[in-house]
Amino acid sequence: MSDLPEQTFSIIQKLEGYSGKSEGPAISDASLYLEDATLPMPEPAAGQVLIKLRMASVNPSDLHFIKGEYGQPCVKGAPAGFEGCGDAVAAGAGAEGLVGKRVAFVAAGSGAWSEYCVTQAAMCIPLHPAVKDEDGAAQIVNPLTAIAMVDIAEKNGDCFVISAAASQLGKLMIGLARDKGLKTICLVRRMDSADALRALGATEVLDVTADDFEAQFASASRALKPRVFLDAVTDAISEKVFVAMPNNARWVTYGKLNPELFPMTQMGQLIFQSKVIEGFWLTRWMQDNGALMADLAKEVQTRFADGRWSTDVATYLPLRDVVSGLAAATQIKDGKIMIKP
Ligand SMILES: NC(=O)c1ccc[n+]([C@@H]2O[C@H](COP(=O)([O-])OP(=O)(O)OC[C@H]3O[C@@H](n4cnc5c(N)ncnc54)[C@H](OP(=O)(O)O)[C@@H]3O)[C@@H](O)[C@H]2O)c1
Repeated sequence: MSDLPEQTFSIIQKLEGYSGKSEGPAISDASLYLEDATLPMPEPAAGQVLIKLRMASVNPSDLHFIKGEYGQPCVKGAPAGFEGCGDAVAAGAGAEGLVGKRVAFVAAGSGAWSEYCVTQAAMCIPLHPAVKDEDGAAQIVNPLTAIAMVDIAEKNGDCFVISAAASQLGKLMIGLARDKGLKTICLVRRMDSADALRALGATEVLDVTADDFEAQFASASRALKPRVFLDAVTDAISEKVFVAMPNNARWVTYGKLNPELFPMTQMGQLIFQSKVIEGFWLTRWMQDNGALMADLAKEVQTRFADGRWSTDVATYLPLRDVVSGLAAATQIKDGKIMIKP
């Protein structure tokens, strides 16, 4: 630690606990939730590493989190950001083997939106030289979710529905489904992504804003018989999709991109059509599937290294511009915001 600076620049949370609101990931002014701070250099405890950040991705979960509407409470004064890529520069007892390595990581000690942060060694994946920093910074949250949820779909049939299909996670799932010989009905709200999604392997791409969307979906559902709906939007259209799906269908909600609160009008579907509504959260899934992690991390990295998966970047945002520039950066479509020190 002696040759490291004594302080680190970080983007810290302003809120404490839960906001009690459910506004979705949209933000119009990041300074409501975040502020700049210069903090003492964090010291890695036993089993932890200190990471010098190369890049941190901005996921919808980061935005829900800083607004106080995520499954974990905000901690006022703690750095924000869940996921990134950087160089392990120091370690506590038992984690020394990572020092000197470039790693993908989930921040489980102090947040990723910081020049330096600490996390558990178990939350780090050493990166192959063929994996770009951009892919390293988005290596864990979405890729593991894609693998977990396509596995749920595969166990239930040969076709599934994906909402917000042009999201980074949607694109990973479409590619994975194609490689497994599964069909996908992909729902988007802008058709300008349709050709790209078909090129990735989407079987059908439907626009939820089209006047005849319900008829189009009903027709696709009759033809392809999807059994699982992997839903990041969770709104009134989602319920219509679920109702149009065959008996025994499972609606797996894993995101709330649309903050609209909507009435559930067709609960008889659960009773008479044996349908099921459930949730998915990667954090819990990782706790339940810890033994699989090393193999899955290898599979994820191989897919990025050989080009079957890649991370689209909307823009690069300097760490020192996050508070002033994050809201505008979220308006740039079709890729991740990458925060760079
Ligand atoms: N439960 C879990 O464990 C877990 C894990 C990972 C990710 N997730 C969730 O997965 C979702 C996708 O994450 P990501 O990182 O892939 O997102 P992303 O790349 O940032 O993309 C977001 C996508 O959502 C679309 N979108 C935004 N608001 C919408 C709305 N109100 N209605 C319909 N579509 C909307 C956007 O469409 P436009 O381009 O048209 O704006 C864009 O295609 C998020 O909800 C995230 O929280 C959950």
